[in-house]
Amino acid sequence: MRTHLCTDLSIENLGEVVTLCGWANSYRDHGGVVFIDLRDKSGIIQLVCDPNENKKAHEVATFVRDEYVLIAKGVIRKRGEGLENPKLKTGKIEVVLDELIIENRSKPVPFSIGDKNVNEEIRLKYRYLDLRNQKAYDTFKLRSKAAIAARNALDSLGFLEVETPILTKSTPEGARDYLVPSRVHAGEFFALPQSPQLFKQLLMVAGFDRYFQIAKCFRDEDLRADRQPEFTQIDVEMSFCNQEDVIGVAEKLVEGIFSACGIEAKPPFNRMKYKDAMEFYGSDKPDMRYDLKMIDVIDLFETSSNPIFADIAQNRYLNRFKAIKVPNGDNFFTRKTIKELEDFVVKFGAKGLAYLQYKEDGLKGPLLKFMSEESVKELIERASLSVGDIIFFGAGEKKKVFDYMGRLRIEIANRMGLIDNNKFEFLWVVDFPMFEIEDGRVKALHHPFTMPKDLNHEILEEIESVAYDIVLNGVELGGGSIRIHKEEMQSQIFKLLGIEEEEAKVKFGFLLDALKFGAPPHGGFALGFDRLMMLITKSESIRDVIAFPKTQKAQCLMTQAPSGVDNEQLKELHIRIKKQTNEKE
Ligand code: AMO
Repeated sequence: MRTHLCTDLSIENLGEVVTLCGWANSYRDHGGVVFIDLRDKSGIIQLVCDPNENKKAHEVATFVRDEYVLIAKGVIRKRGEGLENPKLKTGKIEVVLDELIIENRSKPVPFSIGDKNVNEEIRLKYRYLDLRNQKAYDTFKLRSKAAIAARNALDSLGFLEVETPILTKSTPEGARDYLVPSRVHAGEFFALPQSPQLFKQLLMVAGFDRYFQIAKCFRDEDLRADRQPEFTQIDVEMSFCNQEDVIGVAEKLVEGIFSACGIEAKPPFNRMKYKDAMEFYGSDKPDMRYDLKMIDVIDLFETSSNPIFADIAQNRYLNRFKAIKVPNGDNFFTRKTIKELEDFVVKFGAKGLAYLQYKEDGLKGPLLKFMSEESVKELIERASLSVGDIIFFGAGEKKKVFDYMGRLRIEIANRMGLIDNNKFEFLWVVDFPMFEIEDGRVKALHHPFTMPKDLNHEILEEIESVAYDIVLNGVELGGGSIRIHKEEMQSQIFKLLGIEEEEAKVKFGFLLDALKFGAPPHGGFALGFDRLMMLITKSESIRDVIAFPKTQKAQCLMTQAPSGVDNEQLKELHIRIKKQTNEKE
């Protein structure tokens, strides 16, 4: 229908007759002369119609309102002196209308197109209007380029794109499953895949050697700014490989995607052991754009005159005593903002927030009276303290201390403006523990198919695995591992996880069977594609990079899903809905 996109045109096209299609972005009637800003996916151009020059087109133009769909034919003309609009790419020209067709009308829109300050619920209800703006279009254009770059990168490395089922059996990625009732098999359910984990392993048993898929995954879990119930992974698996091979492929893939998005990401990326990430940053996904490393000071409090401190410091296995030095922090934080930091850590389980300030005449603060002179001296040296610094302390059970001190680190960096938003800092966190113990139960930290390093180690929690996560700017971008490829070891891991033989057979019998038929050594990883795009486009929410996202309450406000179904359908599925309890209401 069109000869050009709006912003294809410039001063070079003066005098040309063009046909353009798009939406009326705005409409102005200046004493008879009508101006319409016509918008398409490329941007905006001004249409102008003078009743003295073209009566018919002008008459049509007077009916135009915001968001009407127009087909406009006219001649490109230079704008008059002083009437140029430097904000528009086409600001030097305009289209003098010969003919205007109103192809479709629009009701008054519930919010101005492109206005981000509108309540998100309304924007999501009318998502097609929310997406009808340049920024959204550019985001999805980039997402498309990134997906194509991912395919090209993996294709060139010999990976085969294979689709795996959506109607399947539960895969244990640690979240709740979305279930689909079977009509044919009364009382039985499919689970939507939390990831294609087991299928990609089976493709290795099939001898495909190198697989990838841009895969939809479904997890019924508590949602956060970087989580959706339905999300996309770039999922990869390969055979006859070690950790270095897999990391090499992941780095090439990331480099290719970033390069397609105009960002340099030069491998090899830095690496850190999981243990160090926790000890120094209190997190398995540390943001490496700033320092504020935690310092171990447990030894300085072992003989503290404060019995609580001494007690904590004497159990080095269970407890931690950590400090974060904030250069120039004493000049930055006031009594009031320090109190705010204290309230912040208390929310995450701290009893309070002790600190020392380094003034002209030395260290100051109530904590001093519980420290020996040598400890103070050692602290100054260990933390390289100088005048103007402040140093915060956290002590207690190690998991808690890691958590709130890790969060404190981020909070301080945010408040002090230490985060350079133009930086992309990648980090591999390696050597994850195989197991974690939660509420007395042994769980796999990644998933139960991960290769342990040494199963004979006496302390379960200290067994490491060949598992790695890729972290970007403090966000877990992806993760993977070398897998168990021998049935005996897989069965042993299930046992350690408290999964009895019978249960293992029911849940993972097909995998255990496959491992008996010459499974090759294999491993892989998956990148969270939505998270990746969120970081590349510097979006605040993962919803900004998903065309039709769900809300924090896992609903689609546009289609009103999930929704009730009629009784006939339920009957076919052999399902009866229990009357809603008051609790639910
Ligand atoms: P994992 O569970 O770590 O690993 O997932 C890999 C990556 O997927 C992204 N991700 C999510 N993104 C948005 N919303 C969610 N709810 C969500 N959950 C996860 C993250 C995460 O790093 N099968 C393994 C991979 C493997 O071992 O090969 C897996 O799924 O960016």
